[in-house]
Amino acid sequence: MKRSFMLWSACALAATLPAQASEELAKKHACFACHALDKKLVGPAYKEVAVKYRGDKGAEAKLFESVKKGSSGKWGQVPMPPNAAVPDADVKTLVKWILSQK
Ligand code: HEC
Repeated sequence: MKRSFMLWSACALAATLPAQASEELAKKHACFACHALDKKLVGPAYKEVAVKYRGDKGAEAKLFESVKKGSSGKWGQVPMPPNAAVPDADVKTLVKWILSQK
């Protein structure tokens, strides 16, 4: 009984991520020019990114690099240009938010 209660609490915590604020960040940094949450535009849907990296402990670091320095050949022919002007803290928030998509 105790164990299932703890699991439940962990889920409740995860659900309190500030999703709204992160979406604003993605708008501010023009990520939505090429990405949408649940369909492919120029780049992959964020939900697909979350599925691809689910269970990958190094995902946050990898995606941080991809967003900051650009990425190519992982999702198709079109590369993502570097987003070097986006502050590190914002990139971290965005990556966490993308990986939390369901
Ligand atoms: C000019 C279009 C464009 C913009 C702007 C853009 N992306 Fe991308 N993004 C892409 C493309 C294309 C890919 C697929 C690259 C590949 O195949 O490796 C991609 C891939 C990604 C991935 C997956 C990388 C991987 O290693 O699997 C993430 C995460 C991502 N973008 C986040 C962002 C964020 C956050 C922003 C805003 C700061 C952003 N993108 C802005 C086009 C864009």
